[in-house]
Amino acid sequence: MKIELKELSKTYKGGKTALKNIDLTLASPSLIGLVGPNGAGKSTLMKMLTANLLPSAGEILIDGQPLAKQEMNLKSSLGYLPQEFGLFEDLSAEQFLDYMAALKGIDAKAAKPEIERVISLTHLEEKRKAKIRTLSGGQKQRVGIAQALLGDPKLIIFDEPTVGLDPAERVAFRNLFADAAKSKLVILSTHIIEDVQSACDHLIVLNQGEICYAGTPDALMAKKSASSLETAYMALMDGRDRA
Ligand SMILES: Nc1ncnc2c1ncn2[C@@H]1O[C@H](COP(=O)(O)OP(=O)(O)OP(=O)(O)O)[C@@H](O)[C@H]1O
Ligand SMILES: [Mg+2]
Repeated sequence: MKIELKELSKTYKGGKTALKNIDLTLASPSLIGLVGPNGAGKSTLMKMLTANLLPSAGEILIDGQPLAKQEMNLKSSLGYLPQEFGLFEDLSAEQFLDYMAALKGIDAKAAKPEIERVISLTHLEEKRKAKIRTLSGGQKQRVGIAQALLGDPKLIIFDEPTVGLDPAERVAFRNLFADAAKSKLVILSTHIIEDVQSACDHLIVLNQGEICYAGTPDALMAKKSASSLETAYMALMDGRDRA
């Protein structure tokens, strides 16, 4: 899968320009970390990649075809965890996943083993029958990750997936994402540079709606003569206006 962003811009109704002229090509297999300060435009970019938001200018091509013409294909080939997502609090984790599988067009027979698979991947076995309202923040986050993995999509977009996870779960999920990315295109945003350093093969840094770095984490460290990605990132952001 190849995604091309061509001179992509987004200006919100109130006049705020959240993304300016983004040119970028992303190809699978890859695990791409998207980082940048609050308000940099990460969620805006992810919403446009998942056709949840229309660009103000420019276009997105998926395997050479405009995204706008592929919404039906996208339903089965895309997994998306939004930064803010509503869960149906009165459903159990399992019922919610069943509902999401139906929305994704997975037939009832195929849905059963698929739900088992994602429950096991996200370590929700003990909570599968529990109503979502009774889950902890991190457990709810795992239900959100689980629904994004349903149907084994080729493109997975996670907006801050590791928020609220305890350290052991964070490491487990980094491994899970790295594993998924062996055959897919996985894009995740995060404020935890360690998530990127240990798992991502590609890094994109956004600041005030513009890309200020795209490349490997190692190349950024070399460029900034830094011993850690955190230091290299801080050096990159130094002197730039943080939004
Ligand atoms: N619906 C909206 N209407 C108007 N402005 C918006 C809207 N959504 C986002 N913005 C603005 O667009 C800019 C980018 O926001 P976005 O949510 O993409 O940032 P982000 O990089 O995801 O930040 P964070 O790290 O806080 O999640 C911000 O200045 C924000 O105020
Ligand atoms: Mg965001």
